[in-house]
Amino acid sequence: MTAPALEISGLGKSFGGLRAVHDVSFAVPAGSLTALIGPNGAGKSTLFNLVTNLFLPDAGAVRFFGTPLAGMAPHRIAALGLLRTFQTARVFPGMTALDNVLAGAHRHARAHPLAQAFWLPAARREERALRQRASALLDLVGLREFRNLAGTSLPLGAQKLVELCRALMARPRLLLLDEPAAGLNDAETGELAGLLRAVRDSGVTIMVVEHNMGLVMDIADEVVVLDLGRLIAKGSPAEIRRDARVVEAYLGPAAEGVR
Ligand SMILES: Nc1ncnc2c1ncn2[C@@H]1O[C@H](COP(=O)(O)OP(=O)(O)OP(=O)(O)O)[C@@H](O)[C@H]1O
Ligand SMILES: [Mg+2]
Repeated sequence: MTAPALEISGLGKSFGGLRAVHDVSFAVPAGSLTALIGPNGAGKSTLFNLVTNLFLPDAGAVRFFGTPLAGMAPHRIAALGLLRTFQTARVFPGMTALDNVLAGAHRHARAHPLAQAFWLPAARREERALRQRASALLDLVGLREFRNLAGTSLPLGAQKLVELCRALMARPRLLLLDEPAAGLNDAETGELAGLLRAVRDSGVTIMVVEHNMGLVMDIADEVVVLDLGRLIAKGSPAEIRRDARVVEAYLGPAAEGVR
């Protein structure tokens, strides 16, 4: 049996007196597309920051395909193939959209550093292949025309797609996406759904934080629900839709009567 892509056990993080994430345990099966949902402030982004060691947990542990991530530097976690995007896209300023995507490739650059330094044929060939791949990824998310513009000049939704392409450029094993559809219109969201399904079908495990319930119910194999830092439900989209605690977390106890 393959280890889960992600195994989260007893994870906890407080900010002062606020328990942002409290005793959360769940696994993300390898090859799945798992959605992480919950009301604003539920702890979803904090959980991503804990998994990638941008925040140190107060308690608990995370394993990535069986490998404990405790104490590992974020860039080493990325080098293992665990890539993420941010709720507010982190596009590198002063670089084109294409160069932003190319920057994701360095984990795989193979040409010897000396070859690169002297710009030998092997390095030149590799650079050309990487540019083609970066270009193809931008085509795939509909940003072909924007590839030579400054990344930061793009609309926010497009910047999130650039960041997604950068993560894909690194050939991830697990992709953590924080609200990838924010800033996209309905047609663009539909295209994103198709892309995420295709990425999942190619063998990449995905965990996605998303407020767009239509998108979540459409693409997720499993849904994990956080509320006020705690895991309150986990199941298939159909199970989650009719879970009383989830309905209450989103709509408040007053919703009980109208359900
Ligand atoms: N660096 C921080 N310092 C202090 N408090 C924080 C920090 N990061 C998050 N919090 C708090 O922790 C709680 C969880 O925040 P988090 O950003 O994880 O929520 P979220 O589920 O991602 O919400 P949203 O859907 O609005 O993005 C919130 O109350 C938030 O204010
Ligand atoms: Mg968030």
